[in-house]
Amino acid sequence: MNLENQTCVVTGSSRGIGRGIATDLGDHGANVVVNYRSSEAEAQAVVAEIRESGGDAMAAQADVAKGEEVQAMREAVNDEFGNVDVLVNNAGITIDKKFENMTREDWDTVMNVNLGGVFNCTDAFYEDLKRADHGRLINISSVVGQQGNIGQANYATTKSGLFGFTRTLALELAHTGATANCVAPGFVETDMLEEVPERVQEKILRNIPLDRFATVQDIAGIVRFVASEESSYMTGQVLGVNGGMEW
Ligand SMILES: NC(=O)c1ccc[n+]([C@@H]2O[C@H](COP(=O)([O-])OP(=O)(O)OC[C@H]3O[C@@H](n4cnc5c(N)ncnc54)[C@H](OP(=O)(O)O)[C@@H]3O)[C@@H](O)[C@H]2O)c1
Repeated sequence: MNLENQTCVVTGSSRGIGRGIATDLGDHGANVVVNYRSSEAEAQAVVAEIRESGGDAMAAQADVAKGEEVQAMREAVNDEFGNVDVLVNNAGITIDKKFENMTREDWDTVMNVNLGGVFNCTDAFYEDLKRADHGRLINISSVVGQQGNIGQANYATTKSGLFGFTRTLALELAHTGATANCVAPGFVETDMLEEVPERVQEKILRNIPLDRFATVQDIAGIVRFVASEESSYMTGQVLGVNGGMEW
């Protein structure tokens, strides 16, 4: 799965799953855009790691929830690397509360990043994906979008929303040869999982047949396949990468 000469934008790749995806794509020859909102030092470290492994990368600050910042990122990316071939909409946040305690602000904040950010980034790079030889739109959803989860009504709604979005974009892009797919991880060892109380983590683990949380590499390998030419005939799909959790 050689990604040489492919330019890949990975939103929210200063930490966590995004970081794992960015470094893996870089290891396989891609030019990688490491987007971040505020973790500049971490993003620069990801860029350095990719360059040390022989790839090329740039850091690009933009809050994905802010359309004007995303447009400025697009210009910087096009100046540096030209046309974008792969967009991985990975940036996401949680504000966990049971619905009875959830405010409209908690709801809107998560919507604005997890779905508004997907709109802004897809909108910015849509023409690039259409022009690319093997355009790839990859949306990072979650098993929580499939199962629901106590305390995550806002988050689960955004992650389910990506299914309809992906399926529709797959249909609308099909005539260009570009594909759109969702990767829906289970529970992955990142800062986001650290925020989940230990007793809840233990309960989750009991429902994972493979009996472990995912590593970021488990997710990155699947994303790399979806980004590659080898996945050309797969579009509109949700790939569950969840250790066998039912939904
Ligand atoms: N961890 C899990 O168990 C799990 C499971 C299923 C799905 N997911 C999904 O996988 C994705 C990544 O999760 P993660 O666990 O890796 O999260 P994480 O460790 O909290 O990292 C989040 C990343 O997103 C960036 N980010 C957050 N808000 C942003 C914004 N408004 N604009 C640009 N970048 C932003 C952060 O950058 P800054 O530090 O600069 O803010 C950081 O690089 C999310 O979409 C999440 O829903 C995670």
